[in-house]
Amino acid sequence: MADFTLVDTHTHLNDSKFAGSEAEVIARAKEAGVTRLINMGDTLQSSAKAVELAAAYDGVYAGVGIHPEEIYELGAADDEQLSAWTREKRVVAIGEIGLDYYWEKDEEKRALQRRMFIHQLDLARQLHLPVCIHDREAHGDTMAILKKEGKGLKGVLHCFSGSYEMAQEIYKMGWYIGVDGPLTYKNAAKLPEIVEKFPLERILVETDAPYLAPVPMRGKQNEPAFVRYVAEKVAEIKGISVENVAKQTSESAEELYGI
Ligand code: NI
Repeated sequence: MADFTLVDTHTHLNDSKFAGSEAEVIARAKEAGVTRLINMGDTLQSSAKAVELAAAYDGVYAGVGIHPEEIYELGAADDEQLSAWTREKRVVAIGEIGLDYYWEKDEEKRALQRRMFIHQLDLARQLHLPVCIHDREAHGDTMAILKKEGKGLKGVLHCFSGSYEMAQEIYKMGWYIGVDGPLTYKNAAKLPEIVEKFPLERILVETDAPYLAPVPMRGKQNEPAFVRYVAEKVAEIKGISVENVAKQTSESAEELYGI
């Protein structure tokens, strides 16, 4: 049993890879000190599953939203469904939402991603909820949209992959960056340097399980228990104790998500 507790602020036990093993995975997380976790939705179906898991397990929270890889024009029925879910137990965010230009090369579809993104930012504002942002190879448009359409909102750039300059802009907005497995990889590029310089108070730790397992679990199916390896890496880079990282990132998760 760990002598500190952590929050996995972004995970996907609602993914089919965990079907049937959710209870065991949550138990292993708690054994490792990961007492709270937030499952983010990517589709209506996975959002429904996230809501269901939040209702069923203590310490399990949910975000609901449509991911940019799931491209379609959102309408009133989607808004009604997403809004209804946010009134359920332990549903704390709209997410994950954003832009993915890595998977999407078509300009018209990218324009549709931007509309979906803005639409859901607007919904989050109406519902007074924080947002969890997915941004892959779309840094310029993500920041332009957040500056214009993100007013009055709080959120996190999950699995942060931008520059230090971008991180500073996020800091000035009062937002957070989320770090996960890639921080521990040899090809982590500029991320360790950003984590070293960026204030701990605005860093959240996450797994994005079942993908992106951190070293030394790389290659295995990722799960919330492994968020401790991310926290340990943050501690190593910053030259502070993992207890300190656990305490501060947990407080930040509480502040952003009201958990
Ligand atoms: Ni995710």
